Amino acid sequence: MTTPLYPPYPQNPQNPQNPQNPQNPQTTPGALASQPGLYPSGQFAQQSATMPPYPAPYAPPTDIFPPPDAALVAWGLTRVFDKKVAVNGLTLAVRRGEFFGFLGPNGAGKSTTIKMMVGLLRPTSGTALIGGVDVWREPLRAKALMGVLPEQLNLYERLTGRELIEFAGRLYDLPTSEVRRRAESLLDVLALGDAADKLVVDYSVGMRKKVSLAAALIHRPQVLFLDEPFEGVDPVSSRVIRDILRDLTNNGTTVFFSSHIMEVVERLCTRVGVINNGQLVAEGTLSDLRQRAGEANASLEDIFLQLVGANAREGSLEWLE
Ligand SMILES: Nc1ncnc2c1ncn2[C@@H]1O[C@H](COP(=O)(O)OP(=O)(O)OP(=O)(O)O)[C@@H](O)[C@H]1O
Ligand SMILES: [Mg+2]
Repeated sequence: MTTPLYPPYPQNPQNPQNPQNPQNPQTTPGALASQPGLYPSGQFAQQSATMPPYPAPYAPPTDIFPPPDAALVAWGLTRVFDKKVAVNGLTLAVRRGEFFGFLGPNGAGKSTTIKMMVGLLRPTSGTALIGGVDVWREPLRAKALMGVLPEQLNLYERLTGRELIEFAGRLYDLPTSEVRRRAESLLDVLALGDAADKLVVDYSVGMRKKVSLAAALIHRPQVLFLDEPFEGVDPVSSRVIRDILRDLTNNGTTVFFSSHIMEVVERLCTRVGVINNGQLVAEGTLSDLRQRAGEANASLEDIFLQLVGANAREGSLEWLE
């Protein structure tokens, strides 16, 4: 018998089987950890105060969700800042090898979602799994499987580009010779060869993005998260990055990226998710979304504007006339 990648998810608080459910009279602490295959090292029973509170909006697993080949699962991800609900019960799965585009207007919750998925921002509730590993229970195991290009690049400014990439490689325990080999080829492909020995502090916006991408790729991650990777990147580098990402997905890497550039998303993505006001308002292939929009020839931009309920123009700047 094969072990399912995602065993039945136990945290649904309404689930009477859930030992965490205080309504369940048969609950005994730690009972779940003794069940083989759920949480192999018993983290579930030993959850500490540092773990996110157990979530309200977990959807119970069904026959179709999450799919058995999911590389990334978000379960009821929620983040509240003071009174602002930035992300509200976001549940989705991305399959292995998929190129997933994450769209939404400014302030919709894209970066907040990505930060919670990669372990940079603790969810108020909910969690994310990378290759079946819970990012908030087993952060080191999960992080070894992912590469991240965050929205704000906090780089070690006093390293050279080459040093920065090699440093990232060493963090993942790659042998030195392999780190060197991969760093050289990344510098080469990303056209950073001439700047390899320059300090990162002197890099342009696009160069910083490229060196960060190289650092995110050096350990050959299974899932790559990119928050607006094409922002500030020139057309030549943009093409290079697109080609790299396409090659990666062809070889089974999963890419999850946010972008405002509809044309790129339309061209690259196998699936698209749209977030508005912290909630996932649509998810599917482009043709799913077209079908939903009721227009067979609609562009992604048309669909997006329809989904987020945007009027082309509100109010007027009569004082400019
Ligand atoms: N650290 C924070 N403290 C308070 N509010 C925050 C914080 N980070 C994000 N927010 C709020 O959460 C909401 C979602 O922000 P987020 O950065 O996720 O949006 P986004 O979709 O990435 O937008 P953009 O397209 O402009 O990058 C916004 O209303 C933002 O003001
Ligand atoms: Mg953002």
